[in-house]
Amino acid sequence: MFKLDDVVAEITDAVKQRSDRGEVASYIPELARVDTSAFGIAVVDVAGNVAVGGDSETPFSIQSISKVFTLTLALGKFGDRLWRRVGREPSGSPFNSIVQLEREQGIPRNPFINAGALAVTDLILSGHQPREALGEILRFMQFLADDSSITIDQAVAASEHRTGFRNAALANYMKSFGVLDNPVDFTLGVYFHHCAISMSCRQLAMAAQFLARDGKHPLTGMSVVTPERARRINALMLTCGHYDGSGEFAYRVGLPGKSGVGGGILAIAPGKASIAVWSPGLDTNGNSHLGRIALEMLTKQMGWSIFRA
Ligand code: DON
Repeated sequence: MFKLDDVVAEITDAVKQRSDRGEVASYIPELARVDTSAFGIAVVDVAGNVAVGGDSETPFSIQSISKVFTLTLALGKFGDRLWRRVGREPSGSPFNSIVQLEREQGIPRNPFINAGALAVTDLILSGHQPREALGEILRFMQFLADDSSITIDQAVAASEHRTGFRNAALANYMKSFGVLDNPVDFTLGVYFHHCAISMSCRQLAMAAQFLARDGKHPLTGMSVVTPERARRINALMLTCGHYDGSGEFAYRVGLPGKSGVGGGILAIAPGKASIAVWSPGLDTNGNSHLGRIALEMLTKQMGWSIFRA
């Protein structure tokens, strides 16, 4: 077995030198300003060892990676009733697609496409003011990462609020089917803000440790979710976490993963490690181009693919 620190250092060097860096997400103007030369990686194994490389301490916009944590929170509140509002099947469509909603009565295919995440956010919001719901999501992230310094980038949230016409369309369309309970503006506001949470690779890898440890918090051993729920969240990440790039990600990396248009990818090697990578340039599916390549190198060298005998 290769030593984790050496593997991470080698990947960081290899990725830094590559010229194929992908394209930043320009539909959120604030994200279009991010420098594509950045690259960070953090790996936290279940023994508590941490290996980092590159810009591993630089906070970036976690965007859709937040959907893993809102799903976890909503499952804690509503249990399996959540699945009346959202499905568990890969969509085979882009993250912001509207086409399936009409045929499927406003029920989104899965909790990771934008429509599904809006439905999950709406559930968390019910019975609360938007500010309270957002506070709950942020505190959950801080608790999981054991780091109270995690914040929301208000400039990113405002930027998406100004230009998020597609999400507004999705939310209004679902509202017309009765799939959202709260005022559309409230649900959108909470959604844009949780997508705008800023975290570093190290913070993100820490926050997701429970998914590598049968649901247990790494520091306290406390149960964040049951082992069964941790397995199921990982299953959804594997099948739906990269939208219409999920098959390719499973084929190349072989781990449950969740991408964000900020260029982050969170990946879980169950029983082994949680991993966060960040490279802002995206591929045509809106997933980090070099982030995926870095994870492919890591799983290959560490033998961490879940499909390995
Ligand atoms: O709703 C959006 O479009 C963004 N806030 C999040 C999308 C996203 O991160 C897709 N992931 N690759």
